Amino acid sequence: MSDTSATSETAQIQTVPLEWSEALALNDAKTDDTHQEFIELCQQTAAAAGQAQLNLFVELVAHTVEHFGQEERWMLAAGLNAGHCHFSEHRNVLEVMKEVERRAQQGDIHLIPNMLEALAEWFPVHATSMDAGLVAFLQTAGFDTRTETFKGPPPKIELMSPEQGCGTAGHC
Ligand SMILES: [Fe+2]
Ligand SMILES: [Fe+2]
Repeated sequence: MSDTSATSETAQIQTVPLEWSEALALNDAKTDDTHQEFIELCQQTAAAAGQAQLNLFVELVAHTVEHFGQEERWMLAAGLNAGHCHFSEHRNVLEVMKEVERRAQQGDIHLIPNMLEALAEWFPVHATSMDAGLVAFLQTAGFDTRTETFKGPPPKIELMSPEQGCGTAGHC
């Protein structure tokens, strides 16, 4: 993402492929389906060129808005507040994606492969740390991500620490 000077040809060659694997499966069907859609859109965008690539990137940004919004709804429903680091990481990634979208629509389309490369590095780490922690937390809380309801009574908010939802070693 830092090298924005590469030409579109070299940038596309340098793009790291992002592929689904069982290592990314979090054993929550809704989350895994969303993550596979995200990866497929990244792959399709990387394989395209010109206006088709821009159109697919716009679609990827819209999908990411929904993807992050979905997880944030679940966090709020389970009692994690919007100050949690998972929210801010989503916000930071989406800000960069939207800026790339804005600039690409003005002609800087060469930024898209660089963005895809950064996403390919970022996503596996995020999925296996913050998203994995969130899924484990929601399962403990009895939250069904398909229906967005609790299987039993919602657990008491004081039982939920940010660390539980973060998925990192005790801190955001
Ligand atoms: Fe996610
Ligand atoms: Fe996330």
